[in-house]
Amino acid sequence: MDKIKVAIAGLGRIGKIHLKNLCRNFSEIEVIATMDVAESSKAIVEEFNVPLFTQNFDDLLAISKLDAVVICSPTDTHADYVVKAARAGKHIFCEKPLDLSLERVQEVLNIVEACGVKLMLGFNRRFDPEFKKIRQLIVNDAVGDPQIIKITSRDPGPPPIEYVKVSGGMFLDMAIHDFDMARYISGKQVKEVFAKGTVMVDPEIGKAGDIDTAIITLTFDDGSMAVIDNCRQAVYGYDQRLEVFGSKGMVQAENNFPNNHKLYTEKGVSGDLPLHFFLERYDASYNQEVREFVDALVNNEDIPVSGDDGLLSMAIALAAKKSVEENRPVKINEIL
Ligand SMILES: NC(=O)c1ccc[n+]([C@@H]2O[C@H](COP(=O)([O-])OP(=O)(O)OC[C@H]3O[C@@H](n4cnc5c(N)ncnc54)[C@H](O)[C@@H]3O)[C@@H](O)[C@H]2O)c1
Repeated sequence: MDKIKVAIAGLGRIGKIHLKNLCRNFSEIEVIATMDVAESSKAIVEEFNVPLFTQNFDDLLAISKLDAVVICSPTDTHADYVVKAARAGKHIFCEKPLDLSLERVQEVLNIVEACGVKLMLGFNRRFDPEFKKIRQLIVNDAVGDPQIIKITSRDPGPPPIEYVKVSGGMFLDMAIHDFDMARYISGKQVKEVFAKGTVMVDPEIGKAGDIDTAIITLTFDDGSMAVIDNCRQAVYGYDQRLEVFGSKGMVQAENNFPNNHKLYTEKGVSGDLPLHFFLERYDASYNQEVREFVDALVNNEDIPVSGDDGLLSMAIALAAKKSVEENRPVKINEIL
């Protein structure tokens, strides 16, 4: 069988990860082109022997043998690139979020559907081995009916203030991963969101119109709940924990550490800090999400994270924002 021909657009933090994984770990894939507006990115692809580097996205779509594009450029380019790729008949893997406007996301999804191509969104945490295992335990009824899901998601430090201003806010930029995780783990739909947000880390974040600390309560359609706590800064590193409490028991995933040893002395017990940030913590998930995208293309199967998954998590994020602004629970059907 011919190899699937892939191109990658955007070669920043996340683009480099996908480039490395696609070039090194998938014998059924051939990366035939890369694109970035910055000419300096050309140097990144040289070590992978990718035949084409271009600064123009349209050049990728002009390659008739191209099967799929992996879009890792900044968020404000996603919707336009996805539409162009869909109209050119290319399958698409796109980093989250698809756009910051719900109307635009809906419009893009309609176009993708009409074009009949596959679209996967990069909610990588679903592919983390620990969280995947927890989802499997729930499917296997090991903890019974989930009643309370607890997600702790704290970054090691806030992004630059210039990024905060264009990010769409903490719920759309950061917590959206946790909203997707809550939906994935429960397998249910969220019907109501109640969020409280505050500025505790940096007043500049508040001046930019955002928050940096939040507690969000989600209520699912069966009455079960999830509670998510977010902060843009945890001084000990990336804090990513999950717990599901159900009618038959409880399951927890702790943070991941560079090693598991602990030093016990007369002064106390000590160990390493958690893996510092997403590139280290979710390294395996970035490979596995692309693995499942490739498998879906090779076997012509359903994509594991659909455009609708992106839309629904975005609706939760917008409901959370509204909830903070209006200090009340917000129903998802007020947003969608
Ligand atoms: N799933 C995840 O865990 C995860 C993590 C980080 C970022 N992201 C998402 O990935 C996207 C990229 O984030 P990043 O952290 O890699 O950003 P980054 O700033 O590190 O890299 C962005 C790259 O895109 C290039 N670029 C800028 N404008 C472009 C354009 N018009 N066309 C093509 N390339 C262009 C830049 O030159 C840069 O190389 C964002 O949408 C972000 O939300 C997802």
